[in-house]
This record gives sequence, C-alpha cells and structure tokens, in this order.
Amino acid sequence: MTNIRDSLIYGKNYLKKNNIESYQLDAEILLMKAIEKDKTFLYAYPEYELEERERKKYLKSLRKRANRFPVAYITGEKEFYGNKFLVQKGVFCPRPETELLIEEAKKIFDINSKIRVYEIGCGTGIISITLLMIFPKSVVYCSDVNEKAIEITKRNAELHKVQDRIKILKGDFFEPVKYQEFDLVVSNPPYLSLEDYYNAEPEVRKEPKRALMSKEKGLGAIKKIIRESKKYLVKNGYLLLEIGNTQGDYVREYARKFGYSVDIIKDLNDFDRVVKAKLIKF
Ligand SMILES: C[S@@+](CC[C@H](N)C(=O)[O-])C[C@H]1O[C@@H](n2cnc3c(N)ncnc32)[C@H](O)[C@@H]1O
Repeated sequence: MTNIRDSLIYGKNYLKKNNIESYQLDAEILLMKAIEKDKTFLYAYPEYELEERERKKYLKSLRKRANRFPVAYITGEKEFYGNKFLVQKGVFCPRPETELLIEEAKKIFDINSKIRVYEIGCGTGIISITLLMIFPKSVVYCSDVNEKAIEITKRNAELHKVQDRIKILKGDFFEPVKYQEFDLVVSNPPYLSLEDYYNAEPEVRKEPKRALMSKEKGLGAIKKIIRESKKYLVKNGYLLLEIGNTQGDYVREYARKFGYSVDIIKDLNDFDRVVKAKLIKF
C-alpha cells in the first residue's frame, strides 16, 4: 500500500471488514485529508506515492473510523451547503438534511431583506453562518448551552468572515435574547427520544448527548421552542425547525394551537424533516 490506488483499495476493504457501511466514501475522504488533495487528484493520479507521514496519518484515521469515530471528528471538518466548517469532538456533527432549513429560509425571505434571526443550539454554527452568507444584510443572534459549541462557532464565523454580523451567546433557549424581536427563529434542536438514542449507531453516541436527546419522547425542546418563540417573533414572523421523521403530525397540531400556520416539509427520503410555521395570531 504505497500509492493512491492501493491505499484506496486497502482502506475500503479494511472499513468494510469492520462493518462501516459508508466504507467507500469514508476511505476516500480520509485519504484526501491524509494527503491534503481533492477527489479529482485522487482519481487523476492513482500512481501518486504516499509519503511515510501521509501513509501513517491515513492508517491512523482508518483505525479511528473502524472504532466508529464520526468522519468529521477525524478530519476536523465537514461541508455544509457547499462550504467547509470546522468540527471537533464534543460538538454535534453537521448533517446534510439540515440544509433543508436553509432552502426554506431562501423561499421565505428575499436575499436583500434585512432579517433579524435567532438560532437556538448553534453547534458548529453551520445554520447561522450559512444564513449570514446568503442574506448579506441580515443580523444573526445564536446561542448554545455548550461552551465548545460557542468557541467553534466563533472560529467558523471568522473563517467565513461574518463575525461582524453575528452575536454568539451562551445560554438556554431564549434566555440570552430576552425582550428582543426576530423575523426568523431557527433551530435544529435535540429531538431523539431516550430509546432512539440508545438504538442509534455507535458513532452517533460519540456525539454529546445533550445535542441529540430530548425529554417527552424527543419532543421536549421542540415544544418549548414553539411555545416561547411567540414572545420573540414579529407578527407574520417564521419559525423553522428540524424535526425527527415521525414527529410531523404531532408538531403540526401543537404549533397550530399557538397561532401558527404550519407546513411540514419532507426530506429526500420522504421523511418529515422541517416545520415551517408562520405566526399569524398574536
Ligand atoms: C442537533 S444539535 C444542532 C447543532 C447545529 N445547529 C447543527 O444543525 O449542526 C443541537 C444543539 O443544541 C444545543 N442545545 C441543547 N439544548 C439546548 C438549550 N436548552 N439551549 C440552547 N442550546 C441547546 C446542543 O448543545 C447542540 O449544539
């Protein structure tokens, strides 16, 4: 195993043998990171000989992956909506389905509007920072209870040069933004039940429990955000929430009771994934 072609074959076989379902993609990502090259290079130069340092790095990351570390924790980064974000252990790993929240925000607001946004539970900052990049006149407040999430969101905001339009605050739900008004409240809150959490893949359980799990069969945080956002949204303001794939019907009815008109948006797998709620009754 010294060149790219052999390294890829080795890595795929090794991960497959260790029951990693995404063995093909993961071997590619880990090799790209070890040699600091992109996918085009990987397939254009199969004869490229890895340096000893690169080979060791690749082998080490394959071992970590076989021990069910999430790929993003190994590489220290993850792509979201076409941009790279720093990720580290102790903070939730961004998921592709969260891009749906961004798609819906783009359908609601004109890109030139001066929207005031509040995000609860920023994690690595992917949602807030992506919105700031798409809506150049927007201002975003975001918060998290996790100190590491606050730190990494600050680093990602600087990386993407939006630090002047974002306030990153430590705190619980709406507590850091008392008495403020927003056009959009957005969140990918923890929404797994205790049972879902314990049945999840081992890599999921390497992520912080508080980022994943919520009381009341996973609905606790979602319900609190729906109830409280009424006090912080302007009339006709929007709430966008990511939800679990079986939570749509319940959440639709719950939000209606609080004066919202509600749409449930499905993801690519046809699962309920996003609640789009407009505050029509104050
Ligand atoms: C599912 S993660 C989402 C992270 C990020 N927004 C994303 O989509 O990748 C949920 C986040 O909410 C945070 N969190 C959990 N409970 C919270 C609370 N009561 N108030 C604020 N943030 C909270 C967690 O620390 C975690 O970073």
